[in-house]
Amino acid sequence: MTGGTVISARPATQVQSPNVRRADPCTLVIFGALGDLSRRKLLPAIYSLMKEHLVADSFRVLGVSREDGQTDDTFRTEMRKALGSSDEIEDVDADLWEELCKRLFYCSADLTCAEDYQRIGERLKQIEADRPEEQRNRLFYLAVPPSVFEAIVRNLSQSGLAPRTRTADARPWVRVVIEKPFGRSLETAQQLNDLVLGLFAEHQTYRIDHYLGKETVQNVLVLRFANSIFEPIWNRQSIHHVQITAAESVGVEERGRYYEEAGVVRDMFQNHLMQLLSLTAMEPPPVMTANAVRDEKVKVLKSVRWMTPETIPQNAVRAQYTPGAMAGKHVPGYTQEKDVAPDSTVPTFAAVRLYIDNWRWTGVPFYLRSGKRLKHRVSEIAVQFRTPPHLMFGGQPQGAMRPNTLVMRVQPNEGVSLNFEVKVPGAAVALTSAIEIAPVDMDFTYAEAFGEVAAPAYETLLLDVMIGEATLFTRSDEVEAAWRVIDPLIQYWDAHKPKRMPTYAAGSWGPREADELIERDGVEWREPAG
Ligand SMILES: NC(=O)c1ccc[n+]([C@@H]2O[C@H](COP(=O)([O-])OP(=O)(O)OC[C@H]3O[C@@H](n4cnc5c(N)ncnc54)[C@H](OP(=O)(O)O)[C@@H]3O)[C@@H](O)[C@H]2O)c1
Repeated sequence: MTGGTVISARPATQVQSPNVRRADPCTLVIFGALGDLSRRKLLPAIYSLMKEHLVADSFRVLGVSREDGQTDDTFRTEMRKALGSSDEIEDVDADLWEELCKRLFYCSADLTCAEDYQRIGERLKQIEADRPEEQRNRLFYLAVPPSVFEAIVRNLSQSGLAPRTRTADARPWVRVVIEKPFGRSLETAQQLNDLVLGLFAEHQTYRIDHYLGKETVQNVLVLRFANSIFEPIWNRQSIHHVQITAAESVGVEERGRYYEEAGVVRDMFQNHLMQLLSLTAMEPPPVMTANAVRDEKVKVLKSVRWMTPETIPQNAVRAQYTPGAMAGKHVPGYTQEKDVAPDSTVPTFAAVRLYIDNWRWTGVPFYLRSGKRLKHRVSEIAVQFRTPPHLMFGGQPQGAMRPNTLVMRVQPNEGVSLNFEVKVPGAAVALTSAIEIAPVDMDFTYAEAFGEVAAPAYETLLLDVMIGEATLFTRSDEVEAAWRVIDPLIQYWDAHKPKRMPTYAAGSWGPREADELIERDGVEWREPAG
């Protein structure tokens, strides 16, 4: 959003510190503990939870990976290094590290090998020995490549380390966290769901999408349903369209091999963008419980109009980035990246127009776009309202006014902004009888209003699993409903390789074709600031 005056929003009353619950005593077993996710996200999240006294005194971490040269001590050294290089931790506190260090243990195992689970079981017994039976809660976190998910959940169940529990309040509890991507298609997601739910109960299964742990994503529900001013206008009568953007400025970096298999639609649309869409468009749940919220999200995903081979060409655009300049530096194009085929047709950008066929949203386009190497790293939901039906201020052509837009910013600078028109002070009125009008933005950012930056997503989500709060995790039917929306597009694009792949220069906002897609409806993409 450009121009306009900034009016800062501040909390109107003293903010009450949230009633944060402390986690149950448990052992967090990280499968893939020496991998990227574990080092960059999970360990910093554990450190921060300890800093805030949110884990139980008997909390322990058992790291499992294939490297058999590691011991508890070398694992602790590795984890100390990971904390030291984390962007999320400014200075590692020596006393806190001492405290955390004592709670870290290591076990080497090939997780696809059933026999190795005996060793994990023995280590778990030692670690849990000082706790009463009912506190021997276990959280198994699958921070491993999706290719080994199936073998691991089978082995985990057959080893007896993670028995199925009948009810969510059974003690000790056993929970299993499964990372994204959950399946490669609707069919494979269904197969994985069938397998997992054959071994564990839904209440034990936490499918993670870290976008849902972000403060603004949760705030979408609060903004919509804890205020009475938005809900009456949150519909087709008042809203012209919605734009959802998840832009990354990075390229594929070291993950070329993964990306060649995934592409932007599997990587971003099936999970993050479908989550943002469903939270924006869902009906209010009667209560804020995991199942009530997820029921509503599933309903809205099921109302998304199916894309078909006939409708896809007019409603979806794919493209790949070519070399360009980012922050003054030359960067290569996608097909020059490491582990990417020189003739790859994998899309790194997609833009899609979707419709939701229900009473609230009929006729309102939802434009979704995501890509790598775009101008800025930014994720936001922008709700654009209709323009006034008649303007009587004179001298102000209808098209010159910016429609009111409510922007929910997911990252960075999490917050909300609303733009509206005001009268410019002073008077050029006498001669023309025209009133000069200009747009202003009313901005709220978490950092400014609450003096603190929102907790990183993994911290929120790890704590939720340890508490047993599943609202921010994706239920089996929700994963399948999201795949049902996205699968036809993936299938169509796989079957219809482009003669000429549309391209966009790294550092731009995407291909010309994406502009044309939205301009056909008389609107433009927003250019969010970085
Ligand atoms: N990295 C992220 O930022 C990120 C973000 C969102 C989601 N995810 C998801 O998180 C998962 C992990 O990603 P990652 O980036 O951390 O991958 P990674 O760096 O490749 O790490 C995977 C870890 O799993 C271990 N592993 C693989 N097969 C194993 C086996 N059979 N037995 C024991 N350990 C095994 C690896 O050990 P070796 O070193 O011995 O191979 C490695 O420690 C993936 O599902 C990914 O999609 C990652």
